[in-house]
Amino acid sequence: MTKIRTQILVIDSQSPAPALIQPAGDIIKAGGLVAFPTETVYGLGANALDPQAVARIYEAKGRPSRNPLIVHVPDIASARKLVTEWTETAEKLAQRFWAGSLTLVLPKAPSIPDIVTGGGDTVALRIPDHPIALALLRSAGVPIAAPSANRSNQLSPTLAEHVFKGLDGRIEMILDGGATSGGVESTVLSLVENPPRLLRPGLITPAEISAVIGEIQVGLPPLAHAEKAPLLSPGMLTRHYAPQTPLILAVDDGTAQVESLLQRGQKIAWLTFTPQPPHPNLQVVVMPQNGEEYASRLFAELHRLDSARVESIVVSALPSGEKWMAVADRLQRASQKP
Ligand code: TXA
Ligand code: MG
Repeated sequence: MTKIRTQILVIDSQSPAPALIQPAGDIIKAGGLVAFPTETVYGLGANALDPQAVARIYEAKGRPSRNPLIVHVPDIASARKLVTEWTETAEKLAQRFWAGSLTLVLPKAPSIPDIVTGGGDTVALRIPDHPIALALLRSAGVPIAAPSANRSNQLSPTLAEHVFKGLDGRIEMILDGGATSGGVESTVLSLVENPPRLLRPGLITPAEISAVIGEIQVGLPPLAHAEKAPLLSPGMLTRHYAPQTPLILAVDDGTAQVESLLQRGQKIAWLTFTPQPPHPNLQVVVMPQNGEEYASRLFAELHRLDSARVESIVVSALPSGEKWMAVADRLQRASQKP
């Protein structure tokens, strides 16, 4: 891949100036790649209707081409144009949760190129709840396909510098709007199954969705198989969202693992819920006891610890409950051995 110059523009997240966003919109229109903040994580955007532009996303990320992308739109009317069937269920969910971190999988319209959907006949759609993302969508005037702006299987970015670390030289522009608030990727819900199926947990919980549309199924069907194209969800690639440093998810608070690693002379980090006695080889990170606050900090802490030269990261077991589903899922995947 030829190295290109990656430009970084710092933009006010609350009120992005249209004149600053326009060059980014122009890059998208011309088939280029722009990373931008959403309320979940940073996305790596390209014109969703231009197959060559979308091919560059896969190339820049090193992403398997069977893993489909989420298409971002600025309003419900734009979403409806990209599907063959806009159901009552879709309407109810969009009214309740959009703009926001719920992605809906629906039958795709012919205008969506196969490369966006991994060859499948469904498309994943959402309206991001972030002024910069919305301003970019309006400026570009086209739907924007955007996976998280990280190299495939690595940690998702919640800061522009995380994007730069992974994608410098591979994309035209990064819009730096500071830290993203959500911290984990959107909830993905398939509406082509009956009842609808949760494919990826996020900060919008199954109970919140059920309160609007009734029963849903949670998790992948038992016969789902990674060889099937397109992948039902890359959640099926069990290792995902992983730091470079080995991550150990404890079954309890992790004291025993921490002590044994320290005895072996390892430098380690410990994501825990309670302050711990100091030790020269131990970095203690006291995490919030609230699932949403934990999610908002998780990837930033893992990025930081990856650069801090620790040999292992021990994570205390999480509380149970739906509010913890998204972080439990990400940590489970991050703790898989490569
Ligand atoms: O919060 C987010 O969703 C972020 C921001 C940038 O919007 N995007 C994101 O994209 O996380 P990505 O590509 O990292 O994850 C997309 C997820 C994957 O789990 C993918 O398998 C699933 O959505 N997906 C996309 N299209 C699908 C489809 N047609 N059917 C089933 N799952 C689909
Ligand atoms: Mg991703």
